[in-house]
Amino acid sequence: MSQPTIESILHERRVFTPPADFAQQAHIKSLDEYQQLYDRAKANPAKFWEELAIKELHWFEKWHTVLDWQPPNARWFDGGKINISYNCLDRHLTTWRKNKAALIWEGEPGDSRTLTYAQLHREVCQFANALKHLGVQKGDVVGVYMPMIPEAAIAMLACARIGAAHTVVFGGFSAEALRDRLNDGNAKLIITADGGWRKDAIVPLKEQVDKALADGAAPTVQHVLVVERTKQGVTMEPGRDHWWHEVQPTVSAHCPAEPMDSEDMLFILYTSGSTGKPKGVVHTTGGYNLYTHITTKWVFDLQETDVYWCTADVGWITGHSYIVYGPLSNGATTLMYEGAPRASNPGCFWDVVEKYGVTVFYTAPTAIRAFIKMGDQHPQARDLSSLRLLGTVGEPINPESWMWYQKVIGGDRCPIVDTWWQTETGGHMITSLPGAVPTKPGSATLPFPGILADVVDLEGNPVSDHEGGYLVVRHPWPGMMRTVYGDPDRFRRTYWEHIAPVDGQSLYFAGDGARKDEDGYFWIMGRVDDVISVSGHRLGTMEIESALVSHPAVAEAAVVGRPDDLKGEEVVAFVTLEGAIAPSDDLIKTLKQHVVTEIGALARPGEIRFSDALPKTRSGKIMRRLLRAIAAGEDVSGDTSTLEDRSVLDKLRTGG
Ligand code: WTA
Repeated sequence: MSQPTIESILHERRVFTPPADFAQQAHIKSLDEYQQLYDRAKANPAKFWEELAIKELHWFEKWHTVLDWQPPNARWFDGGKINISYNCLDRHLTTWRKNKAALIWEGEPGDSRTLTYAQLHREVCQFANALKHLGVQKGDVVGVYMPMIPEAAIAMLACARIGAAHTVVFGGFSAEALRDRLNDGNAKLIITADGGWRKDAIVPLKEQVDKALADGAAPTVQHVLVVERTKQGVTMEPGRDHWWHEVQPTVSAHCPAEPMDSEDMLFILYTSGSTGKPKGVVHTTGGYNLYTHITTKWVFDLQETDVYWCTADVGWITGHSYIVYGPLSNGATTLMYEGAPRASNPGCFWDVVEKYGVTVFYTAPTAIRAFIKMGDQHPQARDLSSLRLLGTVGEPINPESWMWYQKVIGGDRCPIVDTWWQTETGGHMITSLPGAVPTKPGSATLPFPGILADVVDLEGNPVSDHEGGYLVVRHPWPGMMRTVYGDPDRFRRTYWEHIAPVDGQSLYFAGDGARKDEDGYFWIMGRVDDVISVSGHRLGTMEIESALVSHPAVAEAAVVGRPDDLKGEEVVAFVTLEGAIAPSDDLIKTLKQHVVTEIGALARPGEIRFSDALPKTRSGKIMRRLLRAIAAGEDVSGDTSTLEDRSVLDKLRTGG
């Protein structure tokens, strides 16, 4: 199975229209209806979003300005007062949803828990009071380093409730990576667990936190709040570390939601870019609440009785927007699963679908490719008839995986929404609306109403149909990131200055290449910068290079992605060693482990190749394009006119 290529996409002619019974009951019922919404939003975006903000959310106070746009800085619903935790919890308590399941949780070992809206509200209030008790105030930053347990969502909502910004760090990141993020965000407290279950093993989260904080290396962190999950025994530092189950009985379950300014920071989430240091993407309250709410409602066509399951981790934006905030703001039942498909239970996802009657299922192409490899017998042995809608996110999906997903998981009856978006965009940007937009396997289809997406060249001119170009957005939208935490210049440079302004209007540059077809459908071609996607996890090649050169044996390193059938891409590192150090298998192992220690297992190179020198241009730039081709085993002999030293190439090709 291969990644989508230009050739395969150009030959993709299959079109699937929404099933009639699905469309009849959907929020958006036809292509006409979509088109009308789209046109209305385009003609007057501020009015479109304002009407939705009034209709869909609770505000303590109304805004005075819908949109203040001074590129690249947007302010949405300025002057408005809102609290996303109130919208996700309190407002449902005065309706029949009070006793509806808000969160269904399934642990990897088979334990489970269901929290109604009333119960979730109570837990969030207590957790919020615990944070206050430990000195957290409005405006503080709180780190969250958690397994996939209800308390991860509770912690996020508790922060939002009292106006503290959370910065969730994926549990697969190492102590070093955690420490960098806590320091960059000046986190005052960190919420973690003793451990979490993943693939039949315990991820020792508290131990990693201890390492991250050792020797005062994260000086702003004053307290650690620890949730007990795995009970394997951890060290607790008196005065600094507190068990949640010991604090909980001492705090009140009454905690009114703090009215926040619409533009107050809701969270920071770090993501990789083309330079070394991960960026702290900042999202604010009002616009993000509206955008995740309405995309969840229309894209997943949420109905009151849905059991909605997104398989992402809360450590990523997908978990933020589409496990926690979007579904709960809509009063939906959101399902959370702790583990991952594993040798001891390759069919665990389908067990969960059957057990809870999941109706909407949202996952990543890398998972779908893994399911295909594991074999149809696993889904076929379970009753998946409750499913009515499938979604995918994170990477381009190759048409054959799409077809498999539709047939084997969706029983040829469920529409598929292929959702293109990013940490930076807050929510879905290009995606079908399942009752309205016909789908083509491998295409994310059309922009969400209010999103003026296009494909342009570097001068900002739209390219013609089927021609590759840069994916851009022309008008601000409520869910867009507001800045890079502590580095507004980097925000401007990275996203707003890459493409030349058109008629004085800056364009948002996503970092992806794309093409449009004659129907205006978008086909995402993948990153055009030095970002690679390993199993749907976004990694900067420079980040991994920095990790490698921080090892004393390494003089220079260049990292590229190599296409991989299962993971999408795999990390390949070209390394030159210091002076007298000799290459060896042991050194390869050491360096791979070093990357795991510095960043996390998700960044572990699949291959490390040693070389005396790296191919450089005459001006000294590493020729990554060439390295990518070499890593992929392509013939590069005709493509080296700017190469400084041709002999380097021969050595690299032979792996010498
Ligand atoms: C890629 C994940 C093709 C893209 C929500 C983007 C996709 C990056 C799709 C963002 C899709 C995401 N089709 N590519 N449906 N969805 N991508 O920030 O390259 O982790 O720029 O956000 O993933 O990754 P991030």
